[in-house]
Amino acid sequence: MSTAVPEITFDAFEPSERADPYPAYRRVRDAAALFPYAFGDVPVTLITRYEECSAVLTGADWGHGYSAGISPFRDSSAAIPGSFVRMDPPEHARYRKLVAKAFTPRMVGELAPVAGGVVDELVEKAVQRGELDILEDLAVPLAVAMIPVRLLGADPADGARFREWQLAIARGSDPDSLLGEADVTARGAAAIGCMGYFAELIARKKRTPTPDLLSELVAASVEGDKLTEPEVIGMSLLLLVAGMETSINLIGNGMLALLRHPEQLALLRERPELIGPALDEMLRYDAPTQFTIRVALADTVVGGREFKRGDGVVVLTASASRDDRVFPDADVFDITRYAGNRTARKHLGFSLGIHYCVGAPLARIEAEAAVRTLLDRAPELRIATDTVEYRPSLIHRGVLALPVTM
Ligand code: HEM
Repeated sequence: MSTAVPEITFDAFEPSERADPYPAYRRVRDAAALFPYAFGDVPVTLITRYEECSAVLTGADWGHGYSAGISPFRDSSAAIPGSFVRMDPPEHARYRKLVAKAFTPRMVGELAPVAGGVVDELVEKAVQRGELDILEDLAVPLAVAMIPVRLLGADPADGARFREWQLAIARGSDPDSLLGEADVTARGAAAIGCMGYFAELIARKKRTPTPDLLSELVAASVEGDKLTEPEVIGMSLLLLVAGMETSINLIGNGMLALLRHPEQLALLRERPELIGPALDEMLRYDAPTQFTIRVALADTVVGGREFKRGDGVVVLTASASRDDRVFPDADVFDITRYAGNRTARKHLGFSLGIHYCVGAPLARIEAEAAVRTLLDRAPELRIATDTVEYRPSLIHRGVLALPVTM
């Protein structure tokens, strides 16, 4: 079984395509569902279309393969205890369920007014100034307030340190085979700084528990065994890494899409109840997470091709979410696409399967508060720059700044 691969070059990861990688995704998607590629020195297959991407993300034959020792990817975060995003069943579920408890409807109901209060204050200050950088003045302080401070119970005065650590760690989230030495060193230093901070914080929570997820994790046990301190530290680091850069970029990419489509922005002002479907469309149209990686855990077949145990693939979720085979007019930004439409296919912005984003409810709360408040409080919202620059990351997609006048 094999599929012929047309001779095109995959260039979506080139700096020249950073402003808009979607035409490059389209070229490769239209050429082949499975495309051979090299991730640095690691040979992989790019999975470009929706059906094949979702088959890999939901297939029991696919996972990460670190515990089995078969992953071709070098990812030092996989060695961090408790970092369940790189774990396979059965250990993955044991850790995930402890964190999922923080995102029950009741907890989410408690978090929404907190996010609303933070956003109100930030936007009020901006309205007085008449200008705002949606990234640094809104999305970043909101993410700091919600994740290290509210969820993990860190001191609000330490917010700037978290932002610094998180940036270095986010930059280092691309596979090691694609990173420079300086990025790897900076990521290591940030992870050590952050883990030291959490160790001290955990000691405090042991003495005096507070109503936050970190105190719950300190008290929690996995199948009767208490979580070890390194596991609690690893889980905290995972929440910070998985939650901050992504939720910041949803607000940045989503607001940019609205500002570039004034008729959609006007529609959302007119029909605020469309906020939920609009967030899904933002995640489909310009996702903060562009891809994920997987490894065949057994010999298996996807897209008519055989994969051997230990083969690595790059699941191009951002390409799949623009696949015309399942999304009509996939390149059109349409905030009504998901409105009352039960047949619209799920975008892959939060992935699928057992690793589906456990923090999705919090991400939605943050983005809803930010977008709603901006639209309510700034009737004359305008983008204040001709050029938008992107971070040099591949897995994370996000703008460096998004200045607006209001
Ligand atoms: C818009 C914001 C967000 C986006 C786009 C996003 C995206 C994703 C994606 C694509 C995955 C799956 C990765 C894979 O399949 O390999 C994931 C998993 C995860 N996300 Fe999010 N995420 C967001 C916000 C958050 C937040 C706010 C948190 C928590 C504070 C969070 C925590 C996690 C965790 C812990 C996982 C691992 C789940 C598992 O392996 O079972 N995420 N996220």
